[in-house]
Amino acid sequence: MQSGVCLRVLLLAAFTVTITAQKPAPEVFTLTVPNGPILTRLNASVTLPCELSPLFNVEPLEVRWYRSENSNSPALLYKDHKIQEAPVDPRYRGRVSLTGGLERGNVSLTLERVTLEDRGEYVCHVSNERWYEKANVYLSMNVTGSAPVLSVASGGGGQVNVTCSSEGWSPQPKLTWRNKEGTEIKNEHVLFTSDSQGLLSVSSWLLCSPSDSDWLSCTVSLSEEEKRESRILPHKPGAWREAFIVTLVLSLLLLCALSTVVCILLKHRDQTKLEQSKSETKILFKVTENSQEEQPVKEGINLQDWRQVKGFKENITMDEKTAHSAIRVTQEGKTAQYIKEKETDRRHPHVLANQSFGSEQHYWEVKVRDETVGDCGQLSWYVGVAKDNAERTSTVRVTPLHGFWILSYEEGKGFHVNTDPPTSVPVIDLSVVGVFLDCDKQSLSFYNVDTESHIYTFWNVVTSYKFLPVFSPGQHDPHPITILN
Ligand SMILES: *[C@@H]1O[C@H](CO)[C@@H](O)[C@H](O)[C@H]1NC(C)=O
Ligand SMILES: *[C@@H]1O[C@H](CO)[C@@H](O)[C@H](O)[C@H]1NC(C)=O
Ligand SMILES: *[C@@H]1O[C@H](CO)[C@@H](O)[C@H](O)[C@H]1NC(C)=O
Ligand SMILES: *[C@@H]1O[C@H](CO)[C@@H](O)[C@H](O)[C@H]1NC(C)=O
Repeated sequence: MQSGVCLRVLLLAAFTVTITAQKPAPEVFTLTVPNGPILTRLNASVTLPCELSPLFNVEPLEVRWYRSENSNSPALLYKDHKIQEAPVDPRYRGRVSLTGGLERGNVSLTLERVTLEDRGEYVCHVSNERWYEKANVYLSMNVTGSAPVLSVASGGGGQVNVTCSSEGWSPQPKLTWRNKEGTEIKNEHVLFTSDSQGLLSVSSWLLCSPSDSDWLSCTVSLSEEEKRESRILPHKPGAWREAFIVTLVLSLLLLCALSTVVCILLKHRDQTKLEQSKSETKILFKVTENSQEEQPVKEGINLQDWRQVKGFKENITMDEKTAHSAIRVTQEGKTAQYIKEKETDRRHPHVLANQSFGSEQHYWEVKVRDETVGDCGQLSWYVGVAKDNAERTSTVRVTPLHGFWILSYEEGKGFHVNTDPPTSVPVIDLSVVGVFLDCDKQSLSFYNVDTESHIYTFWNVVTSYKFLPVFSPGQHDPHPITILN
């Protein structure tokens, strides 16, 4: 049966050469789409190619273009010989068309005024009563961010600390420091964060000797054509300090002069309206007293600082009932391990926590590297949070769109956060991950506990839901992962 269909497809393919465009629909057909992603720019117009094979007139068929997660509300629906008004995704209204020529078997989708939300996977779906075929086309976008902003601060030991930052990039850009001669300066202090639209900000700092003639340049780039550069002369910040002191002295003098004037005025009023002014003065003093006693505003948590977030550590345990059947939970809910059995389970290979969070700050630590089993290291794992209503079956991908925010490791591929597309994070070695969920700031941060350093922050964790910590010891990987007390 199967080979019969194959043979038919082969035969049809062989005859395609001689088939002319207006041929009626054959019994079976396939779709031809590009292998790699289609790259576009913001606000541009782009075509997602999709063609029938063999080529024939598609006009009597149904053509449906939809986002992988949204087949019921497609970007475009063509049926009964025309493009349908409903049910379609309103975000695409007036921006989509089929321009390739349906009569020639070309069902390519043209999308105009591309927005950031348009990035992602599209499905080209063609059907008649007897047969259907679908194929995926990935739309990716290069977005050039802001010009880098450079600043200088004292770095201690006679050196200066130069900081470079730039925002609004996609995908992850490369940041390069160069000296006056154009030689690249190696630097590991590079930090990426994402905003609510999934655009990335990058920042980096560098210690160097102050100079009045040797500038430094900072370049942020995606490619040769898509790059932004800024330069700075790394002056000693001392010059700034002097300027600041002068400003301070001037301000103090001004303040003295002002208070003298106020005193004189009050005295003057004292003499004219004695009774009334007494009480007024009292009130004035009272206000002054109060403002001095006022507690300083409780400082927000500096997300980059691990020493501050570790204070929110909680006792988290895994909920065995939520575990994929190939995952064994032991040590009173502290350890998860993949054991080879029952691989028919269609859920994601992870386990959720017993605890869920909808407000305030929460921190936990997971040991993700265990050398006690076998002789090689961990092959894969992921940790993070899941929305409490997130889809449990592995038919949906583990992405923020589906309610998952995670940091993952895979041997050979390295460390990634699950933005869509995934963002690689510059971590070399990681054995204990610190996870900090700040429901009030709608952010989720990951830390390298051994080096006490920040790895990545998601800023778009929407908290109209509750979140559960999620733990995956990886698939077909005997190494366990453990929540640390
Ligand atoms: C997008 O492109 C259109 C024309 O193609 C132009 O009128 C419009 O100003 C552009 N919008 C932005 C934000 O660049
Ligand atoms: C199909 O149509 C698109 C859009 O007009 C066009 O870019 C593409 O080249 C066409 N494909 C072929 C094979 O002609
Ligand atoms: C340099 O400045 C950055 C912030 O801009 C800071 O994170 C870093 O710790 C500073 N480095 C030194 C050595 O002072
Ligand atoms: C888009 O960005 C990618 C990744 O940084 C880069 O490799 C590619 O050359 C860029 N594409 C264009 C057309 O500039």
